[in-house]
Parts: sequence; structure tokens; C-alpha cells
Amino acid sequence: KILILDFGSQYTQLIARRVRETNVYCELHPWDMSEADIRAMNPSGIILSGGPNSVTEGDTPRAPQVVFELGVPVLGICYGMQTMAAQLGGAVENGLVREFGYAEIRAQGHSSLLKDIQDRVSDQGHGLIDVWMSHGDKVTALPAGFSVIASNPTTPIAGMADEARRFYALQFHPEVTHTHQGTAMLARFVHDICGCGHDWNMPDYISEAVEKIRAQVGGDEVILGLSGGVDSSVAAALLHRAIGTQLTCVFVDNGLLRLNEAEQVMETFAQNLGVKVIHVDASAEFLHHLAGVTDPEQKRKIIGREFVEVFQRESAKLSQAKWLAQGTIYPDVIESAGGKNKKAHTIKSHHNVGGLPDTMHLKLLEPLRELFKDEVRELGVQLGLPPAMVYRHPFPGPGLGVRILGEVKKEYADLLRRADAIFMEELNATVDEAGKSWYAKTSQAFVVFLPVKSVGVMGDGRTYEWVVSLRAVQTQDFMTAHWAHLPYELLGRVSNRIINEVRGINRVVYDISGKPPATIEWE
Ligand code: XMP
Repeated sequence: KILILDFGSQYTQLIARRVRETNVYCELHPWDMSEADIRAMNPSGIILSGGPNSVTEGDTPRAPQVVFELGVPVLGICYGMQTMAAQLGGAVENGLVREFGYAEIRAQGHSSLLKDIQDRVSDQGHGLIDVWMSHGDKVTALPAGFSVIASNPTTPIAGMADEARRFYALQFHPEVTHTHQGTAMLARFVHDICGCGHDWNMPDYISEAVEKIRAQVGGDEVILGLSGGVDSSVAAALLHRAIGTQLTCVFVDNGLLRLNEAEQVMETFAQNLGVKVIHVDASAEFLHHLAGVTDPEQKRKIIGREFVEVFQRESAKLSQAKWLAQGTIYPDVIESAGGKNKKAHTIKSHHNVGGLPDTMHLKLLEPLRELFKDEVRELGVQLGLPPAMVYRHPFPGPGLGVRILGEVKKEYADLLRRADAIFMEELNATVDEAGKSWYAKTSQAFVVFLPVKSVGVMGDGRTYEWVVSLRAVQTQDFMTAHWAHLPYELLGRVSNRIINEVRGINRVVYDISGKPPATIEWE
């Protein structure tokens, strides 16, 4: 396995995903991981990520010295290269200009890292590689034992290697897709240089995970809060594969779900897969507690609190349960371990099915803790979940509660559900030449209910009805997002259908705000 030490680059998770795509297991840890933990992990190779700091400044992160003493191959990327150079006796200087974007580099010498990797060959017969650069500092003097393996006029030392010690470093980013040969470079490092096999694959993972869950749980009963979202659904399917009827899922209908969502969850899990699911219809209770409340944070807190209450009440009936399973995935683990990079302000108090207090005296079972989102999806498909469920857009814990602005009422939720279903239908039905739907081309799309009435005319009559807004965004990480440039024809069709089919709505608008400054959800 490969250890990736995180120096805080926005691309660090991508390194881990690329390595996993080469079928090698890797783990991401903060750069200041202890020597004992690094030794205990016994990695076959170590990758040092990029980061926002400058090694030319005093108090910035350095790799633990043990990284260079273990005798395993090390690959430094960007800041990782700079700290490697600085720590091993080379020199790094603060560049006057930042280099950001595409660059063409020439592979030099015959390093085992870059040998035969190229996009083109120059007139002089040199291999040329298109890479993605994002740096201010650069290495200006090699440490002893190193030679240059890649360069261009702006960055004469764009790559360096000490073949004897198997230390390699790249100033550019092989982990981003803009560096087309990047995956080949990472594959070269983990397979050829570190000697890792192709051991990380889904079928093997399933059988290992099943064994592990069985060993951990024994004959105990397990409960899981099933939300219908990807993570809890895949966790349920995996646990069911492992322990069958020892698993009981609790599915809470809070009255703020999408059209037919409860039915779909029950059909997929209870009927098709044979999972034990307790379906709790708590919608009246949720709506009762939300009556008269208009403040977004207040609404979120009420929905979160109600969920915990209902879930605890239901699970108390399962007196045999010893384990609480949750669909925590690897990015959640990394985020909560991160600490230092935490956002200072709470923009919204997020609530997930995961957020249960530890007063339940249950042991925690997190079977997806090691997986990235795309791996969770692949796992879900292999476990037989419908692709439409596995590839569904994310849906917030508080559900339609944050998509009905101001006070939540059943009447509004019912109108919103129908409008939203029409939007989803049209997004799915509008497919390009490559067969890709607009649903697939957007990261998240939904309808928002605005408690505003406007005047309209239908037939010969005046109408005075509600307004809804369509929202569709494209994003990689949901931290920043662009509004999707949906075709006018598609927007027109959705608007017509909503106004014609959903009596009570006579106006549809489209939200053209990016994040920032807006957020994706309206509340
Ligand atoms: P915002 O609105 O903050 O949303 O731009 C970013 C992403 O987070 C989702 N979201 C939530 N997810 N519980 C969740 O599980 C929540 O309370 C919650 N609030 C927002 C939102 O749908 C988007 O994908």
C-alpha cells in the first residue's frame, strides 16, 4: 500500500483517487503523521502532496524525516518536491512569477519514472509532455545524488530523481486530468518503482469487506439509518450481503422527501433485496414541529433534532442491537481528521443521518470508511443496486425543508414534489449525441419553492399563484459551483409542463447564481 502525506493541496484527494484507479490501495494522512504511525503502516511507497505554503518561509510543513529513511520509494509533487529538495540539501527559491496552467516539458535522461511517457516527440527527438503547473516557488539547486528528469525554459528543474535511493519529484501535477499522462506516471511509480500489485479491485474488496464485517459483528444485531442516499444505501446493501437478517434498517419519512421516494426505497430494499426495513412515517410529526418556523437555521435544527428523536425511539424497540452502522465514507474521515483546514464560519449547520449522539450505547460500524464516492458507487452497482439510485444527485439531510423557503407546509411540499419530478424527468430525457443526459451532466438539480404569489393569465382567467425556481449546478466538490447553462428549449419545456401540470404554480424562474456568492441550496 501507498502512503500519501497531505500538505494541504486542493488536489491531494485526487492523488489518492488516481492511485486507487491503478488498483493500488492507498491512504491519505496529514503531513505531520507520527514516525511510529508511518512505520506501523509499513508502506511500499510514499507520495508527498502539494500544498499552499512556501518552504522558503521558516515555519512551514516538512516531511517527517523517517520518510527518507525507510528505504522505500518517495515521490514528491509540487510542494512535496520542494520540501524534498530543501530537506535533502538542495535549494528552493521564491519565483517572481507564479506559473499556473498548461506547460510543455521535456523529459530528460532515462528516469524510471518518465521513461517512454510522452505526448509528442520534438524535432530533435525528445519526448514532450503536456502538464499542469500551479506553483510560485521552484527548485533551483539539486540535492546531492539527484539529476534532472524533466525541464522547460521557465522551470529548468521540473522533475528530479535519485535513482539509487528511488526518490522522485515532479514540479507539475500528475494527479489532475489536464496532465494527460499523469495516471501513467503514477502507475509507473506505484507498480514498477514501488512494486505494488493490482490488488485493489471491487470484487476482491467485497469479499474482504464481507469477511471483515462478519468477523467484527459475529452474531450481533446491527441497525442502520437508511436515508435512500447513495452512502447509506450502499452500506445497507453491503451489510445485508455480509450479515443478512442480522441487519435492520430504519427509514424515516420526514414528509420532506421527493416524489415517491419512500415507495422506491421500500421497493429496492425490502422487496427486491430482501433487507429488513422499518418504514417510519413521521411526516405529521415533523411538519407539526416545523409549523410557524421560518428561520433557516431553526428549521435545520428542528429537522435534525426530530430525526434523532424518531430514530432513537425506533431503535430502542430493537433491544438486541449492539451495533450502529453508518455510511461514513473516506472523504468524511479525511475532513474530520483535517482539523486545521476547517472553515471558521458555520454557513449552514449540516445534518446527516450519521449525526447521532453517542447516548445510544451502540458500537459504531462504518463499512465504507475506506472508500471514495466513485468507489462507493461502483460497489453499489456491483451489489445490485439500481444505477439510478447509485448515480442520483445528492439530496440534503433536511430535504425539501431547505427548498421550501420560510415556513414549511404540506401543501407547499406537495406542489414542490410534483414540480421537481417534472424537472428531473426532462433532465433525464434530454440526451446529447453521446447519449449523456442533462441529469448526468449536472451535479445537482432541483426545484425551490418560493412562498411568493404572482399574477398570471391562463385561458381567459386571471391566476394568482406560487412561484418556483429551477436550480442546476455543475461542480467537482460542491464547495464552489457554476450554474448549469441548460438549453433554453429544455428550460422552456420544464416551465410549460410545471405550469400546465401543477395547479397552484403559475411562474417558473431559473437561478443563475454561482457559488460563491450564493450557496447551492437556497437555505
Ligand atoms: P450548499 O447549499 O451549502 O450545499 O452550497 C452544498 C452541498 O451540501 C448539500 N447540503 C446538505 N447535505 N445535509 C446534507 O447531507 C445538510 O444539512 C445539507 N445542506 C446542504 C447540498 O445539497 C449541496 O450538495
